[in-house]
Amino acid sequence: MAAMKSKLTQDEQLTVDLFKRNTPSVVFITNLAVRRDAFTLDMQEIPQGAGSGFVWDADGHVVTNFHVIKGASDLQVTLTDGDEYAAEVVGFDGDKDVAVLQLKLPDTEKLHPVKLGTSADLLVGQRVYAIGNPFGLDHTLTTGVISGTGREISSGNTGRPIEDVIQTDAAINPGNSGGPLLNSSGELIGVNTAIYSPSGANSGVGFAVPVDIINSSVTQIIKFGKVIRPILGISFAPDQSVEQLGVQGILVLDARETGPAGAAGVHGTKRDQNGRLVLGDIITGFNNMRVRNASDLYKALDKCGIGDEVDLEVLRDNSKIHMKITLGSSS
Ligand SMILES: *[C@@H]1O[C@H](CO)[C@@H](O)[C@H](O)[C@H]1NC(C)=O
Ligand SMILES: *[C@@H]1O[C@H](CO)[C@@H](O)[C@H](O)[C@H]1NC(C)=O
Ligand SMILES: *[C@@H]1O[C@H](CO)[C@@H](O)[C@H](O)[C@H]1NC(C)=O
Repeated sequence: MAAMKSKLTQDEQLTVDLFKRNTPSVVFITNLAVRRDAFTLDMQEIPQGAGSGFVWDADGHVVTNFHVIKGASDLQVTLTDGDEYAAEVVGFDGDKDVAVLQLKLPDTEKLHPVKLGTSADLLVGQRVYAIGNPFGLDHTLTTGVISGTGREISSGNTGRPIEDVIQTDAAINPGNSGGPLLNSSGELIGVNTAIYSPSGANSGVGFAVPVDIINSSVTQIIKFGKVIRPILGISFAPDQSVEQLGVQGILVLDARETGPAGAAGVHGTKRDQNGRLVLGDIITGFNNMRVRNASDLYKALDKCGIGDEVDLEVLRDNSKIHMKITLGSSS
């Protein structure tokens, strides 16, 4: 009689192969400044400064969530074979919760970059695979389907919205946050981010930042060390305080004179000689789209480039006026 052989279904075999093929790309990142006291293998208890990441390219760039390395100074990256290397932060984009590290290793043959896919054509229902390396000891796999596309979550780092986020029922937890979300060809479609589950509980809804957004940020970070976004050069009041005024829009608190909006004549909020508050302009439209809150404004800005001329509609003394503004750059 033939020995009992494990008989996987074809589907199972494909999953096993995909996992095996892609684990060499998925690394464990630890912040040496935050040492763990107790040894734990609890996936919900990954401390600040530790998490998964993955090899981006053959130059030794590693991508992870910004919140994994936030505040870290002394980083170490563990590759699949268990070898540990020092890494430096190249830059980060808190708005999209992504950070890029540079691995310092002598031998780039050990690097297995992920294959970049695209997130432009994702379909609800297609299978996805989330790989993590939560402890540097071995890898984890969770699978599921895309349960939604075009979701919007708010970056826990800066509060700005991250758009077009992938929603999945594959468990996304602190253990695989920062790791890759792959399609069934093993190509990168997103980066897992567990930042949105405050309790760490798995509610059956996980999120991943789509690869097209990640690629755009990572490319800029590698080139410039940071992500440069178009800005108006204003500060504005929190949404709630404007609601209290009974208007929908963004109350400008300050528009520095040298900034794009200030130079174009946008008024900030001031006090007059008698100490009374004189409200500034309230932004109500941007390129002929309604702007009701900060999230609307950020989204509109995300679609523009530095140097673009935009049309700003503001409410001033109960009348609406339009201004042309040339967008500046965030640094
Ligand atoms: C995976 O992504 C790549 C790149 O976007 C694409 O060419 C391929 O068809 C995708 N595979 C599946 C099964 O969706
Ligand atoms: C990533 O972004 C860069 C710069 O925008 C672009 O040239 C490149 O084609 C993108 N890569 C993929 C796989 O989409
Ligand atoms: C902002 O306003 C838009 C409608 O213009 C609404 O869909 C969205 O939920 C609002 N966002 C917040 C954070 O209040």
